[in-house]
Amino acid sequence: MKFTTTIKKEHHEDIDNAWTIPARYYTSEEIFETEKEVIFANSWICVAHSSEVREKNAFIKREMIGESLVIVRGRDDVLRGFYNVCPHRGHQLISEESGKAKNVITCPYHAWAFKLDGELVHATNCENVNKFDKDLASLVPFHVTEYAGFIFVNLSNDPKPISEQLPGLEEEVFKACPSVKELKRAARFVSQTPANWKSIVDNYIECYHCPTNHVSFADSVDVGQYEHEFKKNWSVQIGKAKPSNSSYQFDESVTDPKFFGFWLWPCTMFNMPPGGDFMTVIYEFPVSAGETLQFYDIYFLNDVLTDDQKRLVDWYENVFRPEDLRLVESVQKGLTSRGYRGQGRIMADKTRSGLSEHGIAFFHKLVADAHLGEK
Ligand code: FES
Ligand SMILES: [Fe+2]
Repeated sequence: MKFTTTIKKEHHEDIDNAWTIPARYYTSEEIFETEKEVIFANSWICVAHSSEVREKNAFIKREMIGESLVIVRGRDDVLRGFYNVCPHRGHQLISEESGKAKNVITCPYHAWAFKLDGELVHATNCENVNKFDKDLASLVPFHVTEYAGFIFVNLSNDPKPISEQLPGLEEEVFKACPSVKELKRAARFVSQTPANWKSIVDNYIECYHCPTNHVSFADSVDVGQYEHEFKKNWSVQIGKAKPSNSSYQFDESVTDPKFFGFWLWPCTMFNMPPGGDFMTVIYEFPVSAGETLQFYDIYFLNDVLTDDQKRLVDWYENVFRPEDLRLVESVQKGLTSRGYRGQGRIMADKTRSGLSEHGIAFFHKLVADAHLGEK
């Protein structure tokens, strides 16, 4: 094995002899610019649970790879996505994170007004402007779809259906959490994380770090009875769950309690503990090579939280979540060091146990494919 600074597929293909992708892929802004095109503007990205834009006129805004994106449900019940930019001189249209739109969106600069399907309905004085073309003054759309109870966006012009990007995922999500569509968001922790988006996936897709860093979580999942299944562009980690006083509990009547941890290309994670009445989601919104905006959302079925649920939210916010954030922040610093050899050994074990890092090899192969134009 010779260390390299350029992606080599063979380093991730043979899982038993795999190495991580080179460090500069986590630190170089030039490489991040490439990833904007080959990954983030070319994939379905999960941005919200469907409940956030369920009502007519409801909208949300998301910031990702330097773009501001608005997703709005029209009066006709159709979900649409528009870049948050006015076609006139480029002012942003919406500043709120979410809300209920009026029947027109009005630009704060010169008050052009748009219907929720993007059509321009009013531009002051346009009748006196030579050959003013209304069609060239509509909002610029991007693709939006709902899948597995969540909202996904795709910024490419002609995307493949989401079922081709994540085949079979919806079915497995519904099995793991049959009430996923009825869940409602109870909490959101927002973090501007000084780490590359891939470090956050790397950290999620292995539990080698769990015994040392999530003592309370490791207590609730039996890593001895752990499976990691790999599908096209997604994976699921399945652990046998034990109710724990230090993390989550569930109804003891649940037979065969399992914890499901889904990872979806490129950077979303669904955590579904047993019982089917709550889940957590990590949404990543990459900002730059070294910075990622993250939402950590917690969903329950009920509106008013019980004391136990409040305690659980508090545990996620103050114990579990900070543990992972500190890990990836530290890794980002280390990857820029001249004291790091540039690649690390992926600790895959023969039995693919709960401690094995073979999930990282799976993820890095997909990243390599994207960089090599083979995805
Ligand atoms: S920039 Fe929006 S109306 Fe002028
Ligand atoms: Fe972790």
